[in-house]
Amino acid sequence: MDRILIAYYSRSGNTEKVAKALADVTGGSLFRIETSQAYPADYRQLVVCAMDEEKKGIVRELKELPDLEGVQKVFILSPNWFGTFVPPVRTFASMPSLSGRKVALVLTHGGSGIAKADDDIRRCLPQGAEYLGSLAIRGDGGDAVHTLLSHWLETSGQK
Ligand SMILES: Cc1cc2nc3c(=O)[nH]c(=O)nc-3n(C[C@H](O)[C@H](O)[C@H](O)COP(=O)(O)O)c2cc1C
Repeated sequence: MDRILIAYYSRSGNTEKVAKALADVTGGSLFRIETSQAYPADYRQLVVCAMDEEKKGIVRELKELPDLEGVQKVFILSPNWFGTFVPPVRTFASMPSLSGRKVALVLTHGGSGIAKADDDIRRCLPQGAEYLGSLAIRGDGGDAVHTLLSHWLETSGQK
């Protein structure tokens, strides 16, 4: 059976709200991307930690990996941190098991839009993964989030 997986990382809830709306629109199953070691709760400490990680290309270990049995398409959702998706999503997008599957990216942001994320995910994905493109949503997309997602799926030929 063909399955759709909606894998998301969310710190403060925006991306989670978009992921749930995408599950409503597509019927996909949700998978929360969590790190083995939590990020600092304090915003300033988080910024220092995440910037350092980005600069050094440190790989964030994930708490759990999803079951991709029968999964044909994976939506990856992330907040924009410093112009791209978060380090745990880099780990997720690099999984060799994404090979042979369709992948699309949704990024929530505070004003920078998709920024470098589209180029970065193309570099991360394993060979054999088919990248379908991305959508940037400001904040949690507000009341229009379902409409935004449906419109994107239609206009990008994913529906
Ligand atoms: C450490 C950090 C860095 C961020 N950097 C950016 C950025 O460069 N550009 C931007 O538009 N938003 C940035 N944001 C805002 C988030 O992308 C935005 O609020 C997002 O919707 C949060 O998603 P979440 O609630 O699922 O965690 C940043 C937020 C954090 C916590």
